[in-house]
Amino acid sequence: MGMMMGGGGAARSSQGAGLPFAGIPPELQDRVDGLLASEEDRDPPHVPFSHSHYDRRRLTLRGLLKPNWLALVGAFVLVVIETIAMLAGPTLTRIGIDDGIDEGDFGVIVTVSALFLLSIVVHVNVSRARVAWAGRVGERLMYALRVRVFSHLQRLDVSFYTEEKAGRLMSRMTSDIESLTQLFHEGLIQMLVQGLTLVIVMIVLFDMNVQLAAVTLFVILPVMVAMTLWFRTASDRGYEIVRDRIADVLAHLQESLSGVRIVAAHNRQRHNIAEHRNTAGAYRDANNHTARIGALYGSGTEFVAIMGQATILLVGGNMVLDGNLTIGELTAFVLYLSTFFAPIQQLVNLYNTYQKGQAAMHKLADLLETEPRTVEDPDAVDLPPIQGRIQFDDVSFSYVEGQPVLEGVDLTIAEGEVFALVGPTGAGKSTLAALVTRFYDPTNGTVSMDGHDLRSVTLASLRSQLGIVPQEPFLFAGSIRDNIAFARPDASDREVLDACRAVGIDDLIDRLPDGIHTPCHERGVSLSSGERQLLALARAFLARPRVLVLDEATSNLDLRSEAKIERALDTLLEGRTAIIIAHRLATAMRADRIAVVRDGGIAELGSHDELVALGGHYAEMYATWERHASGDEAHTGGSAPPAP
Ligand SMILES: Nc1ncnc2c1ncn2[C@@H]1O[C@H](COP(=O)(O)OP(=O)(O)O)[C@@H](O)[C@H]1O
Ligand SMILES: [Mg+2]
Repeated sequence: MGMMMGGGGAARSSQGAGLPFAGIPPELQDRVDGLLASEEDRDPPHVPFSHSHYDRRRLTLRGLLKPNWLALVGAFVLVVIETIAMLAGPTLTRIGIDDGIDEGDFGVIVTVSALFLLSIVVHVNVSRARVAWAGRVGERLMYALRVRVFSHLQRLDVSFYTEEKAGRLMSRMTSDIESLTQLFHEGLIQMLVQGLTLVIVMIVLFDMNVQLAAVTLFVILPVMVAMTLWFRTASDRGYEIVRDRIADVLAHLQESLSGVRIVAAHNRQRHNIAEHRNTAGAYRDANNHTARIGALYGSGTEFVAIMGQATILLVGGNMVLDGNLTIGELTAFVLYLSTFFAPIQQLVNLYNTYQKGQAAMHKLADLLETEPRTVEDPDAVDLPPIQGRIQFDDVSFSYVEGQPVLEGVDLTIAEGEVFALVGPTGAGKSTLAALVTRFYDPTNGTVSMDGHDLRSVTLASLRSQLGIVPQEPFLFAGSIRDNIAFARPDASDREVLDACRAVGIDDLIDRLPDGIHTPCHERGVSLSSGERQLLALARAFLARPRVLVLDEATSNLDLRSEAKIERALDTLLEGRTAIIIAHRLATAMRADRIAVVRDGGIAELGSHDELVALGGHYAEMYATWERHASGDEAHTGGSAPPAP
């Protein structure tokens, strides 16, 4: 919303309301469809993607335009023809009056009229071609930029994507790219058109009459520029306030609607209305202010324009009487003067578009220059098919400098071992797992897989052999099948169904109207968080990775489903290395070894029996759990852990 008001003023407020970027405006849709239809081979058959090789040159306007210089020269030629055709009118009028009417030569009048008509026809057609051409070039630039930015976003590591940045990234991809679109589509070309108009008109005026031209240049022009600059500043400030006020209104609205239960429960409606009246009132005042500024400027420039014409008429009329100027020249002068004001106003507005575009360009350039933190070594080799031995050597890690989460961890997980991590919330269990998948690099020490330092292998070859089931699985828009076959899109329906059966969601699938082809996510079925976890497990089941990480992957399941999953896991984990972060000891107990993570390291390590015998943290957790488990068993029946 904010950027719609973003100070474009008259130039851009017509674009409809709503979202910062609400897609393609309807009036442009036909044009865009046309462009798309005529560019069938835009998509390369396969999309090259590399973690290490990409365009690291800083994004600049010049850099963007340069590969398209030929198209731009074409647009420039069209603009020149268009402008000259448009400006022929007053000169033709002068010839018609002086050489036709004055001399009584009807032939000249006919010729001039025909030429006038021709100039209009040329102008209209060239203008149409130019708009289409420039639009096409602009779209091509934006398309390339969008893909480049998105590819870079795909390249950045998970540490980049904190909650706080998601909103800002969306605005990079929407409002910033939209500012640039404005610049490319209309901004740059319009600057050229208007600038060229100013220069040509000025030359013609000086050529016709130096004195009158000087009056225009030194009296009328400065007043116009000064007024426009004032308007620019005042309206920018005004629109900034409008933006803040509408944000207040929306924030209050959002809060009141989300908190409607609390509002009702505490009888705050009356108070709420009073508050909304104030925020909405402030918004109204801000809008009134900018409307007043606009009105003042509109009538002010009209006044200056008419004063200018009156001045020219006065000075020029006197010159005609003295015989220093022909009537035709005076007429042409007055006509040119009226084509003179629009470019000045436009140019000042366009300067604003230009500045915004530049600002957006800098922000995007900064984004493109953000280096991923887990960089792929240029000499990285593909990790060969692994056995799955994971080794931590003196690994330390901190998210924030000076606040280590892990310190000096030494750990070897054997191939095929089922290894459980337990420990208090925030101890660093997920962090340990994230180091294995190389979502992060250790601050110190090395993590290796089958003896290969993770930093020396390509990310793709590493990740293709890893499976991760997170606590809050994410479902993508698409069918259930698409979501399960996410890592192996070529899997057959049979395999997908087998995976469903293995994790026990086959009865859920059976209930759905289209089975595994039922869309999930918006408008499709909405799944409970437990069902999502099962789906994520099926995803891992289908991918059959060598190393599997389950990060509290069964935490939202009821005990009965979990027991079912555990049986499925027995098959799934057969012969694979697994790191299971367990929130329930029942899960941990089945592991070959268990590590208790706390105080930045591994406090206890061993099999269930060993740890119980040790009498430390684990034994204490186990004792507590056992006491509660007998209660749970009574409620749910049959999901008690196997006797150790
Ligand atoms: N992205 C992050 N940025 C900063 N600190 C983090 C981040 N993720 C986790 N932490 C911190 O690191 C510590 C360990 O977190 P985590 O490994 O998620 O714990 P666990 O999985 O054992 O509950 C916690 O103190 C947590 O606040
Ligand atoms: Mg965790």
